[in-house]
Amino acid sequence: MKAIIPVAGSGTRLKPHTLTKPKVLMNVAGKPMIHYIIEQLTEEKFVNEIIMITGVMGDMIKNYLKEKFKFNFKFIEQKKQLGLGHAVNCARAEFTENEDVLIILGDTLFDLKLKELCDSKYSVIGVKKVDDPKRFGVVERNKQGFISRFVEKPASPEVSLSNKAIVGIYYLKNSDTLFGSLDEIIAKGIKTKNEYQLTDALSNMLIKGEKLVTFEVENWLDCGKKDTILDTSEYFLKKFNNKYKYDGCILKQPLYIGENVIIENSIIGKNVTISDNCIIKNSIIKRAIIEEHSMIENAIIEDSLIGEHTKIKKKTDVLNLGDYSEFCD
Ligand code: UTP
Repeated sequence: MKAIIPVAGSGTRLKPHTLTKPKVLMNVAGKPMIHYIIEQLTEEKFVNEIIMITGVMGDMIKNYLKEKFKFNFKFIEQKKQLGLGHAVNCARAEFTENEDVLIILGDTLFDLKLKELCDSKYSVIGVKKVDDPKRFGVVERNKQGFISRFVEKPASPEVSLSNKAIVGIYYLKNSDTLFGSLDEIIAKGIKTKNEYQLTDALSNMLIKGEKLVTFEVENWLDCGKKDTILDTSEYFLKKFNNKYKYDGCILKQPLYIGENVIIENSIIGKNVTISDNCIIKNSIIKRAIIEEHSMIENAIIEDSLIGEHTKIKKKTDVLNLGDYSEFCD
């Protein structure tokens, strides 16, 4: 089976970090988020080709994956970010016959066996019950359990209809129907929120008679914005349960400390990731991700994303600093 992973989005909600690196290369508990998805696909072994749909800075993703994984990748550029539906459609030339396809959004992490989701007689949409469906695409089901409707970010009056949010994992049995539907919405200029949406193509697939069911993804871990990245990171840090010791420092689990990191006279944790080659002195850091080659001295940092090669030498609190920033007195 082939998997399509769209990673071409501009990641606006994660600026300034996404100005210098694609969202999927941002660090979550010690590894770029895309690493988790590819690692799982290669371990589960039922996918034999991964089609990455890349955009701006796509070469950075290509170089990373080629270096870390020996796998059958295909990289296709989405030249204009016209929406997720358009991104998926960029893979159409790879499907010469009708086959099943797995689509995973690059900023969707999860803790489940994908094979279980794909062991279905019908096409499957991964969903999770949420409290605030307005932020998501949601599905409605009929009495038989088949999906009857997709609604992209439902407006308030519709909210009560469904709280099953689409989490970004799709197993579709018929690539012909998928690409036919994508073609149709693009040809007719059907856009939602000014983008060609995959949910609009899925609605079209329903009209064409495709049978779709849902699969509850309990551990769905969003990485679309700063707070969700920090929460997702905590989930994996707890799972990995790494132990460290630095003399003269207080370390509070869970945390991740990379290679060649110097930490002196500091309190680190909980929920902190410090990447390779960082230097931390006389500081208190909690709930933060610090990318490679950064230096922090005499600072108090919390709820923060700190890019690589940054320099912080100032008492502070919550920070969202992009790569190569300086924050000093
Ligand atoms: P999002 O809707 O989260 O968009 O895309 P985004 O650009 O990543 O982030 P924001 O909303 O601007 O902060 C969901 C997935 O679809 C991909 C993204 O890369 C992400 O993996 N995508 C989205 C594309 O590949 N192309 C597009 O045109 C849009």
